[in-house]
This record gives sequence, C-alpha cells and structure tokens, in this order.
Amino acid sequence: MFLEMLWVTILGLNTVPFGLYIAYMTRVSRKRPWNVQIDTHYEPQISVLIPTFNEEATIRKKLDNVVQTDYPKANMEIIIVDSASTDSTLDQIREWSRDHGEIKVIVVQEPTRRGMVKALNKGLRRASGEIVVKTDADCLWLQDSVKNALKFIADPSVGSVAGLHIITAARETSSVAIERTYRNFYRSLRIGESKLYSTVLYEGELMLVKRRLLDLAPFDEEIGADDVPTALRIADLGYRAITADDAYFVEQTPYTWKTKFSQKVRRGRHVLQSLWKYKYLNFRKDTPLHRLILPFETYIYVINPVITVLAIVLSAMMIIRYPLISLIAPLLLIGNLRELLVTHLVSSFIMVAVIISELTRKERLTWEKIAEIRQQPEQVARNLGGP
Ligand code: GDD
Ligand code: MN
Repeated sequence: MFLEMLWVTILGLNTVPFGLYIAYMTRVSRKRPWNVQIDTHYEPQISVLIPTFNEEATIRKKLDNVVQTDYPKANMEIIIVDSASTDSTLDQIREWSRDHGEIKVIVVQEPTRRGMVKALNKGLRRASGEIVVKTDADCLWLQDSVKNALKFIADPSVGSVAGLHIITAARETSSVAIERTYRNFYRSLRIGESKLYSTVLYEGELMLVKRRLLDLAPFDEEIGADDVPTALRIADLGYRAITADDAYFVEQTPYTWKTKFSQKVRRGRHVLQSLWKYKYLNFRKDTPLHRLILPFETYIYVINPVITVLAIVLSAMMIIRYPLISLIAPLLLIGNLRELLVTHLVSSFIMVAVIISELTRKERLTWEKIAEIRQQPEQVARNLGGP
C-alpha cells in the first residue's frame, strides 16, 4: 500500500503544481493588459552587439538583416566582437561594411577565444548607445522586432526586454516537433511572467538592455551565457526584465536528436548555473518575481525533472504489479496528449542530464559551433513573415 500511495503522490507532485502554474501564466498572458508604460515614439541611440566565432556561413545575412531593421540608421551602430575566428568571418565583415557606408560598424578583434561573454563586455566598452541590443550571428530579426521591443524599455521600471523564438529547421523531424510544443508553452510562460512582473528565462538572440545598468552590472563572465544571468542581474538591480509579446527572431533548431541533446544540455547548464549563483534572489520577497516566478522556475527546471524520473520508475513498478494499468495506453493515441507527455519527458531527461553533467564535468566558457543549424540560411529567411 505504501508504494501505491507514494506513486500517486509522486505523479501528483510531478504534474499538478507545474500544470497549475502553466494554466495560470497562460491565462495572465492572454487576459492581462501590459502594466508597462509603452512609448511607441521612443527612438534612442542603440548599439547592436554581435559576438562572432567562425560565422562565415551566416554573418553577411545577419548584417543585411540588421541594416534592414525598421529603425533610423543614424540612431544605430553595429559592434562586432570577433574572438580570433579562423575562417573568413572578418573578411566578410570588412567587405560588407565597405559596401554599407550608411551605418557605423565597429569591429573589435580579440587575439584569443575566451568565450562569448568576455567578448561582449569588451564590445560594451566601445558602445555609445543608450540601449544595447545584443544578438547572435545565426539568427535573424523580423523587421519590426527592435521597434516593438524598444517601446517597452522606455518605461523607467523596465531594465531589459527580450524577444521570442520562431524556430525553423532544415528538416521537419520528431525532435523539431517536440521543440515546437516546448516553445508554445515557453512563450505563454514568458509573457505571463512579464505581464505579472519579470521573467527569468531569457534570449540572447534579441536582448535589449539599458546601457546605464550594464555599467553597474556588465555581462556575467563566470557563466558562459548572457541570457538568464542578465535577467537576474537586472532583477538584482531592482528593475524588470521582460519578454515582449511582439518582438520575434528566427533561429534554426537542430533536427537530429543527438545535436538537439548536446545544444540543450549546454544551454541547460547555463540556466542551472545562473539559478544557483543568484539563488539569494529567492529569499527576497519584494516582487512577484521573488515570491512566485523565480522559485517556480527553479522548481520547473531543477526539482520537477528529478520527480519525473521517480514517477517513471514507480510507474514501471506499478505496471509490473498491476498489468491492467496498461489499459490506459490507448489514451496515448490522442495526438495532443502524446505530444505533451513526450515533451514533458524529453525536457525532464535533458534537465536530469544537465544536473549530472554539472556535477561531473567542468564547465567551459566556450562551446562547439553547431554546423547543422547553419547549413541553410535561406530556411531562416523564409520565416521572416512572422509567427
Ligand atoms: N566573440 C565570440 N567569442 N563569440 C562567440 C564565441 C566566442 O568564444 N562563442 C560563440 N560566439 C558567438 C557565436 O558566433 C554566435 O554569434 C553567438 O555567440 C551565440 O553562439 P551559438 O553557438 O549560436 O550559441 P547558442 O545559439 O546556443 O546561444 C544561445 O544560447 C546561449 C545560452 O547558452 C544564445 O541565446 C546566447 O545568447 C546565449 O547566451
Ligand atoms: Mn545560436
């Protein structure tokens, strides 16, 4: 009897708090108006910051895309920080900027590769804009993304605004389908949390930060990523870090399970390190971020995945003991239910792998470039019409 009760408890713990949180945030994201002073006329000087390491396949399209952004070129500069690329990235950038006198381009060259975040801080020193707009070489913005995000950052309580993924892939495989389901939930959570107060999970592909706050707290060089640590540092300074609901970027996602797994484990480790380093924010109680959002995101990314594994083990034991339970298997023929379950299981497995890898392997501040998502840049361009 003990095992049966434990099984039911674990299943409940695994699905109920998580489900309620998603349901609540989805409702907030749909129903609540923005509690932000939106200023659609805000047109400050912006510095677009792009780190590059061996991006010859994508950099020209990226620069074309930045310059096609719907924003006055006179109010904009591009700063590229390259960390000793060994391919033709630098030549491509030089050629491109020769042909584009309409926009100021600054190229900072690092003599050795010390990771993206150190490179970003180096670029920051050259930035003259009031707002820094960080992006990556392998993603493209929609034409209105920057303008749409900027209108939120005009609010004095907002320190940073990030965008949302549109994912595309060279091939539509099962791993891509799972990523789409994951991103749909992800979107509702980010917008719900932002409307409530502030979000934690963040995106370095389109991330606006007030320059004055980066002077107080630059990008965190102890962690390989610039996204979650930035959101948490902004929170630490007492400002909101929000996700705009209308600022999109397009990025290819891996179509093989192996590559997806390695990308997700690396990104997941950065999330875990950030949650751990800034855990003290959980103990402040001043805003909904501290009281609800950060504790819940920690629960979703760190605690719940371990509960999922327990739930699987116990379920297997129960099926052996009570084979009749397997009669509910046909429920899995319902497409949506199956996709939900598989997405939950895959995400949990990835986070368990993240925890194990974090405990057993030393963190590196540099990572291998994923060629699989840089093969067909035209795939990305095809999605610029919007979600
Ligand atoms: N200068 C420099 N030096 N740039 C680098 C280095 C480096 O050592 N390593 C990677 N980059 C550049 C890449 O060329 C690319 O423009 C950008 O940093 C992101 O690298 P990707 O390889 O595309 O990584 P990602 O797609 O997983 O990055 C995303 O996740 C990270 C979190 O793990 C982005 O959202 C990042 O902003 C985020 O920090
Ligand atoms: Mn990328």
